[in-house]
Amino acid sequence: MIDRTNCPAPLPATALGTPLSPSAVRVMLLGAGELGKEVIIALQRLGVETIAVDRYANAPGMQVAHRAHGGAMTDGPALRALIEKERPRLVVPEIEAIATEVLQEIEDEGIAEVIPTARATRLTMNRESIRCLASEKLGLPTSPYAFAASLEEAREAIDGGIGYPCLVKPTMSSSGKGQSVLRGPKDVVAAWNYAIEGGRVNKNRVIVEGFIDFDYEITLLTVRAVGASGEIETFFCEPVGHVQINGDYVESWQPQKMSETASAKSRAIAGSITENLGGRGIFGVELFVKGDQVWFSEVSPRPHDTGLVTLASQRISEFELHARAILGLPVDVSLRAPGASAVIYGGVAAKGIVFEGAYDALSVPGTDLRLFGKPESFVKRRMGVVVSTGVDTAEARERAQRAASRIAPKAWE
Ligand SMILES: Nc1ncnc2c1ncn2[C@@H]1O[C@H](COP(=O)(O)OP(=O)(O)OP(=O)(O)O)[C@@H](O)[C@H]1O
Ligand SMILES: [Mg+2]
Repeated sequence: MIDRTNCPAPLPATALGTPLSPSAVRVMLLGAGELGKEVIIALQRLGVETIAVDRYANAPGMQVAHRAHGGAMTDGPALRALIEKERPRLVVPEIEAIATEVLQEIEDEGIAEVIPTARATRLTMNRESIRCLASEKLGLPTSPYAFAASLEEAREAIDGGIGYPCLVKPTMSSSGKGQSVLRGPKDVVAAWNYAIEGGRVNKNRVIVEGFIDFDYEITLLTVRAVGASGEIETFFCEPVGHVQINGDYVESWQPQKMSETASAKSRAIAGSITENLGGRGIFGVELFVKGDQVWFSEVSPRPHDTGLVTLASQRISEFELHARAILGLPVDVSLRAPGASAVIYGGVAAKGIVFEGAYDALSVPGTDLRLFGKPESFVKRRMGVVVSTGVDTAEARERAQRAASRIAPKAWE
C-alpha cells in the first residue's frame, strides 16, 4: 500500500480523450442527483466518458451519462467491485452516504483518484469530525457545541453551557434531516427522538449547537484548481446568499453584499478548511455572518445546492468549475450578472408527474428553467429550479420567484 499522507495530490494529465475509445478519460460520479447531472453535462461537453451511480433507476445524472449503475454506495464490497470493473481515472462523490473506507483503499492503492481526497469525503460526512477539525485543530470560529450519545448527555450539554435556543442534529445527516431548534427544556425529548430517527448511521450520536443569531448566511464556493503557477491555487466565487426552511434551501442569490471585513474573514476561513482537506475541486463552505463577525458552519467537498444560482450568475457555473478543476484545467470564477435561484418542489406524491406553466414561467425576462427529471415526486422533493439574472439581486430574486410560482407540478392522469 502506498502511503500518500504527506504527498501533495498528484497533478493530472490534462490531455482530454475520446469517450468510448481507448483514449477516454473516464469519470465516475457517486450520486447522480440534480447536482451530479450538471457535473456530468459539464464533463460530457469536454468529451469525458461518464459513469453515473445512484441507488435508484433513472436518477437525473443517469439520464445524461454514458453508463449508469444502480445500488447502495454504502455497500463497500459492491462499490469496490464496480470501481474495479469500470476503472475510472477519477471517482467523484456527489453525496455523503458512501462507504468512505473503500474510497480510502481506492486512493491508497492508486486504482483511481478520489475527488477531492478520500480523507475529505470521510471527514465531511460526519459533523463530529469536521467540527473538531475546524474548531479544535484549525481554530476557526464556530457556534458553541458538544456531542451527546444519550438524552441525558444532551441535556447536560445544554444545561452545562450551551443554553437555549440551541439546535440538535444527528452527526450524520443532510438537508436538515433529524434537525431541530430547541427553545427550552420541554423541547429536549422531542429533539432527541427526532435526531435518532433522522440520522443515517451512528444512530445514537448528536451534536448540540448554540443558536447563532446571524444577519445572513452564505455559501462561499471555493475552488482548488491548478493555477497559472502550475500549482494548486485557491479561487473564491462571489458569496452566495440563501434562505433555508427546515434545513432545506428554498432560494439563493449571488452576490450577497458583505462588509470588507466579513468578506476577508470568510475567505480566510474557507481557505483554511479547504487547504486542510486538500485535493482539487469545488467546495461549498457554509458560513454565518453578523456584522463583521463570521462563523464556520460546515463544508461540502462538492458543488453545493445553493450554488445552482451560478448556472445563471457566473460565466462558468459551479458544475463547470468542478469539472475543470478535477481535470486539472484552469478555472474562471467571474460573475456574469447578479442572479438568483428559486426551488420548485414536487407538491404531490406521484410518479412521472407533469409540470404545467413552463411557457408563462419562461416568459419572465432573464430566466431559465431546469427540471431534474426525477422519476418520482414527493411533496417536499426538489424537482426543479428556476434561475434568473437581473440588474441587481433584488430584481433577479423577484424574477426567479415569479417564474417558479408559475410552474404547477401535477400528477399525470
Ligand atoms: N448553530 C446554528 N445557528 C443558527 N442556525 C443554524 C445553526 N445550525 C444550522 N442552522 C440553520 O440550519 C440550516 C441547516 O443546517 P446544516 O447546514 O447544519 O444542516 P444540513 O442538514 O447539513 O443542511 P444541508 O445539507 O442542506 O446543508 C443552516 O443553513 C442554518 O440556516
Ligand atoms: Mg448545511
